[in-house]
Amino acid sequence: MTELFNLAGRVAVITGGAGLLGMKHAEAIAAQGGTPVLVDIVPASAKARELADRYHVPAFACQANIADPQSVRGLLDAVTGRFQRLDILINNAANNPKMENSADVNFSRFENFPLEQWHADIAVGLTGAHLCSQILGAYMAQQFRECGRRGVILNIASDLAVIAPDQRIYRQPDLPEHLQPVKPVTYSVVKSALVGLTRYLATYWADSGIRVNAISPGGVYNGQPEDFVQKLANLIPMGRMADVDEYQGAVLFLVSDASSYMTGHNLVIDGGRTAW
Ligand SMILES: NC(=O)c1ccc[n+]([C@@H]2O[C@H](COP(=O)([O-])OP(=O)(O)OC[C@H]3O[C@@H](n4cnc5c(N)ncnc54)[C@H](O)[C@@H]3O)[C@@H](O)[C@H]2O)c1
Repeated sequence: MTELFNLAGRVAVITGGAGLLGMKHAEAIAAQGGTPVLVDIVPASAKARELADRYHVPAFACQANIADPQSVRGLLDAVTGRFQRLDILINNAANNPKMENSADVNFSRFENFPLEQWHADIAVGLTGAHLCSQILGAYMAQQFRECGRRGVILNIASDLAVIAPDQRIYRQPDLPEHLQPVKPVTYSVVKSALVGLTRYLATYWADSGIRVNAISPGGVYNGQPEDFVQKLANLIPMGRMADVDEYQGAVLFLVSDASSYMTGHNLVIDGGRTAW
């Protein structure tokens, strides 16, 4: 059975690889013998070296802007030039505003939400996933035609792809109503759209050897203020936020042969939040 999860020799591009969860996806892949490629707009070489040393795989980092097609083409050239193969793409990068820590409490409200911020958030979370899927996915489809090697795309959505944000948990005491922070509209829009992209590509590439799935994780505990954590925990049947490594099992399942008959699915992992 362990063969089902074996990723030996497989090459996995992880966008937003320098971030909190990107590194965790990379660890899960490296621990099964896969080669993670950390793609980020900020440098991630030190993290790639850490993975290479710890798991003895040729992990490497590639600095790229996934919202720029030229940059994504450069990424594909760098990966295929080095490894001559690409097996896994995890569309993980997103602008991820931490509203509970926000000092600027006004911009997030829908009435005030700046158009530039709308474009910036869509560019990373949605256009970035579209471009990486288009450019790297096309390579995977060609690879399947030429040598029968299968590919996997995993989109990282959110529980907020399934439900609306409960804006009450972002409220701050002593602020007037019009200054209360909210989870920005772009977060819901990007994450819901990623589930649509997942279904579209799963059916589009079903006969091209590429499976496409999504996960919808709930909030990860990362030192947020105690009152915020408590308010969120109250919305979750399991009564707590996720630990940072609690999505690794699902990631491993969906990028490995363990899920070989699964495509077009959005796997919700949220401590039961969306069941309530
Ligand atoms: N952390 C959570 O609680 C949580 C919960 C549900 C879903 N998610 C989703 O999981 C994913 C990862 O979240 P995280 O908490 O690790 O976020 P993070 O902010 O730590 O990481 C995101 C990474 O994306 C990179 N990035 C931004 N713009 C980019 C661009 N144009 N090109 C390349 N890279 C770019 C950033 O530099 C950053 O390293 C996101 O899609 C997020 O929405 C996170």
